[in-house]
Amino acid sequence: MFKKFSDTVTLANGVKMPCIGYGTWQTPDGDVARKCVFEAIKAGYRHIDTAAAYGNEESVGAGIKDSGITRDELFITTKHWISNRGYEKTISACEDSLKKLGIDYLDLYLIHWPCVSKISDNWEEINADTWRGFEKLYKDGKIRAIGVSNFLPNHLESLKAKSTVKPMVNQIEFHPGYIQAELADYCQKEGIVLQAWSPLGCGAVLGDAFLAEMAAKYNKSVAQLCIKFALQSGFVPLPKFTNAERMAANMDVFDFEISTEDMEKIANMPQKGYSGFYPEEAPADAF
Ligand code: A2P
Repeated sequence: MFKKFSDTVTLANGVKMPCIGYGTWQTPDGDVARKCVFEAIKAGYRHIDTAAAYGNEESVGAGIKDSGITRDELFITTKHWISNRGYEKTISACEDSLKKLGIDYLDLYLIHWPCVSKISDNWEEINADTWRGFEKLYKDGKIRAIGVSNFLPNHLESLKAKSTVKPMVNQIEFHPGYIQAELADYCQKEGIVLQAWSPLGCGAVLGDAFLAEMAAKYNKSVAQLCIKFALQSGFVPLPKFTNAERMAANMDVFDFEISTEDMEKIANMPQKGYSGFYPEEAPADAF
């Protein structure tokens, strides 16, 4: 188990990823994203997560540059959007993201959403073709690690049958109130490292009375409890916050351990804070 904020998780190819990342989904582009990323790095975050679809890569890149931290001290992830599926488009989408971020390699590049049967009968080929682009970028040294986001076991199985490099990461929604246990179990068995998006349930679980009681028991805030719950469940959480005071507080999760009994209680709480984004029933393409 992680002992300190600077601890890392080792991916299947040996690349080390800091155990907590700074999420930027819904962080407004422009001064807000730039300042948040700068402040996060200043506070000690070294793992930054963005996506082409967040529309803030340039501002995230500016914040990184403002920080003055050398590139090799940072772990930077971005994600490939659905409009760029296919081999050629994937290569140019990655180049575009690198340009916007102002860097010349990525630590991690993810397929943001799978193509699914509801979108195309040819979904398996489409995902495999996109993944071929990922493999090429990886082999060319443009990306240190490659993975996916929001992939279910059937999408991962399909990709496995049609590719040579296995995804090293799957970034999925995970928080108290929505834990996707079967999917997490599958990934862990396959050696795919899990990242948690919305580890605080997009803020929706922070006012939950049961979690408040549980957090108080450990003398922690509900946000800190959620972050620790993700870590102890084997996930790399990517909490998002724009409030500067929360930067330090959300790092302070290494002086307590949630008991096995309480982990189970949290895992079994009723569904809460679920985003409604489910790749098969509500594919990203439908939005
Ligand atoms: P804000 O962005 O105003 O700082 P998630 O990471 O699950 O997407 O949740 C993000 C939401 O949780 C944001 O609204 C963020 O607010 C809020 N948040 C993050 N950290 C804390 C905290 N320590 N206390 C209260 N709210 C928090």
